[in-house]
Amino acid sequence: MSPISSSSLLSLCVCFFIFLLLPTSESVKINKPRATNVTRHHRQLSYDYHAKTCPQLEQLVASVTSQQYRESPISGPSTIRLFFHDCFVEGCDASILIASRPGSMAEKDAQDNKNLPVEAFGSIRKAKALVEEKCPGVVSCADILAIAARDFVHLAGGPYYQVKKGRWDGRISMASRVSSNLPRANSTVDQLLKLFTSKGLSLEDLVALSGAHTIGFAHCEHFVTRLYNYRGTKQPDPSIDPRFLKALRMSCPYFGGNVDVVAPFDVTTPFSFDHAYYGNLQAKMGLLATDQALFLDPRTRPIVLELGKDKQKFFQAFSAAMEKMGSIGVKRGRKHGEMRKDCGVHP
Ligand code: HEM
Repeated sequence: MSPISSSSLLSLCVCFFIFLLLPTSESVKINKPRATNVTRHHRQLSYDYHAKTCPQLEQLVASVTSQQYRESPISGPSTIRLFFHDCFVEGCDASILIASRPGSMAEKDAQDNKNLPVEAFGSIRKAKALVEEKCPGVVSCADILAIAARDFVHLAGGPYYQVKKGRWDGRISMASRVSSNLPRANSTVDQLLKLFTSKGLSLEDLVALSGAHTIGFAHCEHFVTRLYNYRGTKQPDPSIDPRFLKALRMSCPYFGGNVDVVAPFDVTTPFSFDHAYYGNLQAKMGLLATDQALFLDPRTRPIVLELGKDKQKFFQAFSAAMEKMGSIGVKRGRKHGEMRKDCGVHP
């Protein structure tokens, strides 16, 4: 059994286990709605960029993503995360798809990307092969990744938003540039804000995009310290619900646990893209320290409350924030980018 399928099975077990242990989270009073900034536009990209060169592009990608999702649902969360990790490092330019060469370790082999399942790379490779067959040499891997991420959001029950296109692929992919451009699972809200702001994303975008943690799983290593030795206190993080803590501890011992074990971000509906993530934070059931911190910090808490009470508002804020994230550091034209045939190799 491959590590992926074994971890999928484990995740199912952990999920089921947590379901058994936890009563439904109590409903939480939500107050003070706050406006979300969803209006920023990006002139560089356009919705109809491929209207003439590859009018059937979105259908071609959809035929691959829908089949992939049926056969291997893990492709959904992992491709959405792949897109995030691509955009934050060198911009949305498919630099994360480049394979390492001797003497040049590429982004995909950096420590922060080691848990990205092969399924995520596989769906982009398949979609690119189909697009190349029908529209050779005109659609970048970066655009295909942006479209596929949207498809998976929608396939999991999330919003269907239009994707702007016109990205070119990047010429640079260096493992050494990854860690400083990605958040840590225990980053503070200050650190998250600094990073997100440096990418042109706002406080609202940070909270909305973190809502992607409504689906998918995390390995114990990312939250185990919270369970046993929070900030060196030898005590668990006091902001974790006691029953949730107990369930997580059973799956993730402090020492000697199975490194493949994963826990669901959203214990209530781990496979559906809904707004339950925000309710979980209010019920002290955020998995990562960064998740829970969004409810603890007075700057982000009102947004958590707002998005937790209104699924449509979350979908709207998430779609707008994905468009902004999808516009980070985009390359246009041969001067700045390249058009790859095989997403893993520079032409
Ligand atoms: C705000 C700061 C963020 C931190 C600290 C963070 C950290 C993490 C970590 C540690 C994991 C678990 C990886 C593993 O163990 O395999 C994870 C998973 C995930 N992240 Fe984030 N993330 C953040 C923001 C985002 C954003 C902005 C998105 C997308 C818009 C995203 C989408 C996902 C998804 C979908 C998964 C599940 C992956 C899977 O099940 O394969 N995350 N994240």
